[in-house]
Amino acid sequence: MTKAVAESFPMNRGEGVYSYTQNSSHQRDGVNSSKAVIDEAIAEKLDILKFSTSDPFTIADFGCSTGPNTFLVVQNVVDAVKLKYQKCPSLSMHIPEFQVYFNDHIDNDFNTLFKSIPLEKQYFAASVPGSFYDRLFPKASLNFVHSSYALHWLSTLPSELLDKNSPAWNKGRITYANAPDEVVKAFKAQFAKDMSSFLNARAEEVVPGGLMGLLLIATPDDIPSPKSIFAGLFDLMGSCLMDMAKIVRDVQF
Ligand SMILES: C[S@@+](CC[C@H](N)C(=O)[O-])C[C@H]1O[C@@H](n2cnc3c(N)ncnc32)[C@H](O)[C@@H]1O
Repeated sequence: MTKAVAESFPMNRGEGVYSYTQNSSHQRDGVNSSKAVIDEAIAEKLDILKFSTSDPFTIADFGCSTGPNTFLVVQNVVDAVKLKYQKCPSLSMHIPEFQVYFNDHIDNDFNTLFKSIPLEKQYFAASVPGSFYDRLFPKASLNFVHSSYALHWLSTLPSELLDKNSPAWNKGRITYANAPDEVVKAFKAQFAKDMSSFLNARAEEVVPGGLMGLLLIATPDDIPSPKSIFAGLFDLMGSCLMDMAKIVRDVQF
């Protein structure tokens, strides 16, 4: 098993005004727009003939947070898979039961997640806490893997960004916007390492014929990331967060 210790920064817990539950409509829009792509992939690529008719159909949402977006995703997948079985002459009478695993870091507010799980859900639900950069499931045990707005979370900050003697020293900034190439390279290298840990772990866990749907923020190849619209926004947000942290530090000491 791989072992990568990922830092954990959970979303705001509960259902209050500042909670993730009440402040994730942007991610919900993304999840809704990816529905058609997922439906099509399930209809055309999910190889249900390879699955045993006596096993449940297992779905895992990696980086699920506290809801409600994860419930939308899961219901969409369940509906699309059921439709696929109904349309398959040899399997239309063998629609499987569904087992859903909600994954996030151990610090995630799983209580809010389970309190708000839809009453009319048509699946068994369980949580699997831990970093998705590690193995979390037995070999060949997942039929459908999903993750949205989570894989841009690096497992750790590249250490050279904090090293004043390194050309990749980021001078205390928390983004790569308008930073030297070495800073961008350090972020890219960490992302590549993390993605490969994620994909290697899932490669073991997904059953033959299974599928994976990943939704993450990206920029077109011809726009260098540090110059993209996101970089500008993150630079602004980064400087606000640094100011806030400085105020808290000055007040404390
Ligand atoms: C912005 S939320 C996205 C929630 C949900 N998927 C959505 O689309 O609304 C990102 C989630 O990824 C989780 N996350 C980040 N890194 C993770 C890791 N290494 N392992 C498990 N969860 C992680 C965070 O804790 C957070 O709850």
